[in-house]
Amino acid sequence: MEKVKKMESLSTGIEGLDILIDGGYPKGKSILLTGPPGSGKTILGLHFLHKSCESGKKCILILTRELTEDVLLQSKTLGMDLEPFKASGQLQIKNIFEDRINKLKSVSRFGKGLCAVDTDIIEYLSSAAEGADVVVIDNIGMMVIAHEAREFADKFSSISIILLKRGCTSLFIMDDDSYALTYGLPASMVFGNMKFIVKENLNVGRTKQYIYIQKMRNKPVPIKYSLYTLTQEGIKIISSLRGR
Ligand SMILES: Nc1ncnc2c1ncn2[C@@H]1O[C@H](COP(=O)(O)OP(=O)(O)OP(=O)(O)O)[C@@H](O)[C@H]1O
Ligand SMILES: [Mg+2]
Repeated sequence: MEKVKKMESLSTGIEGLDILIDGGYPKGKSILLTGPPGSGKTILGLHFLHKSCESGKKCILILTRELTEDVLLQSKTLGMDLEPFKASGQLQIKNIFEDRINKLKSVSRFGKGLCAVDTDIIEYLSSAAEGADVVVIDNIGMMVIAHEAREFADKFSSISIILLKRGCTSLFIMDDDSYALTYGLPASMVFGNMKFIVKENLNVGRTKQYIYIQKMRNKPVPIKYSLYTLTQEGIKIISSLRGR
């Protein structure tokens, strides 16, 4: 009998998460991560980028909300310094947010309109994704603001298709508030979907943070919910609850 080939995986950069999803993110596919503010979404992206860069992969980080210098500082603080990889060209950082700020300056000077974030992302990826192994977009939720849910779904699938065709293993990061405006459409368009869920415990003034692996096509995921914590070294998976 012909042996069924196991799906190739790329390490997430988080040991506990690699175990939960059978070796890592499915190679060449897209994963969506949603979660509330401050839950560690950017940090999850940094783990993936740092690990991928370390293992010689060509990586792209698209930022829509934060300054590049802030994210680079965050990576350094957590012991996952991305600066050397950026300097060597192994990691490309495209900052749509900063580009827009620069365009704003020219709007007052030349009276030109602003490009929408999605156009910028699609245009950039159409050429830049060629030859890239890993793409992280933080935060794709910015695209929701400018569109109706259906229009957003179209733009989102255009980006997914570009990345799928180029064989990039991609991580889309999205905040819960934006995700709530999409009718959940993006989750059905990706290969894998994970959520950060934060439960407040007002009695002790602390929170419990869970990673919920809602789906990961072609991979066994027996444990759906796990507790995680944010530490000096980033995300640590600390325990698991058996899912159904
Ligand atoms: N050294 C550290 N030790 C413990 N926790 C840390 C450390 N550094 C950062 N954090 C925590 O990580 C959180 C920020 O993580 P991150 O930037 O990934 O969140 P996010 O989900 O991307 O947030 P946003 O919605 O603002 O983009 C902060 O709330 C902070 O409490
Ligand atoms: Mg973030």
